[in-house]
Amino acid sequence: MILCANFKANKTREETRAYMAVVESFVSANDITDTIIVFPPFTALDHDPRNVLIGVQNGYPVINGAFTGEIALEQLEEFGVKTILIGHSERRHVLGETQEEIAAKFRFFAQQNFVIVYCVGEPLEIRKEGNESLMAYIEKQFEGIDLSYSDLILAYEPVWAIGTGLTPSNRDIEQLHGVLRTKTHAPLLYGGSVKIENAGEIMALENVDGILVGSASLSANDFCDMIAQAAELNTEKGE
Ligand code: PGA
Repeated sequence: MILCANFKANKTREETRAYMAVVESFVSANDITDTIIVFPPFTALDHDPRNVLIGVQNGYPVINGAFTGEIALEQLEEFGVKTILIGHSERRHVLGETQEEIAAKFRFFAQQNFVIVYCVGEPLEIRKEGNESLMAYIEKQFEGIDLSYSDLILAYEPVWAIGTGLTPSNRDIEQLHGVLRTKTHAPLLYGGSVKIENAGEIMALENVDGILVGSASLSANDFCDMIAQAAELNTEKGE
């Protein structure tokens, strides 16, 4: 299983340090073999990871240069960061990133051998139009994306489920992930209102290889609880 915590613009450097201490010791005390990735804000990257990976929520696709306000490869390398989130719905819909820009980021960071957690997902009006529209929408989010990239992790996150407390039915998640499985061998994560109460059942679904958690990951104890649920499932899923 792969469990990701996306802090978004939450937590200070101090708070991140305290959080990482809790999660790191939980992971080592319980011999967790799952992949745990935490995406703190840029200001909290100075962490020396032991058994938890640190990723960034964004990055500018250049080595360095005149791009005011952006953070590029050179700065990420200084922190040893090799994992990046690309295509998150807030970058697409709130910050206005186009598919072209997203694909440029994907190409650049794939060339740099980053682990890429690539996010796709549809707004509610598309979901309401039915399966055909839904798949056509997601297909567009694959434009310029190499689905056979070896360090790809693909996250399905319906826009309407992010931060809303709403989730698709388990059947809908399974169906969508089933289609994604025919397109890539990459591990498939589900994200959007995952919390302690539903993490276990979502991770148990077919073709779900992990979760991407926002708000519910902000509590280190809650995130550790989800890690424990994943560890229990590994035995059942034979991993
Ligand atoms: P949420 O966010 O868990 O708060 O819904 C998930 C995400 O945005 O990755």
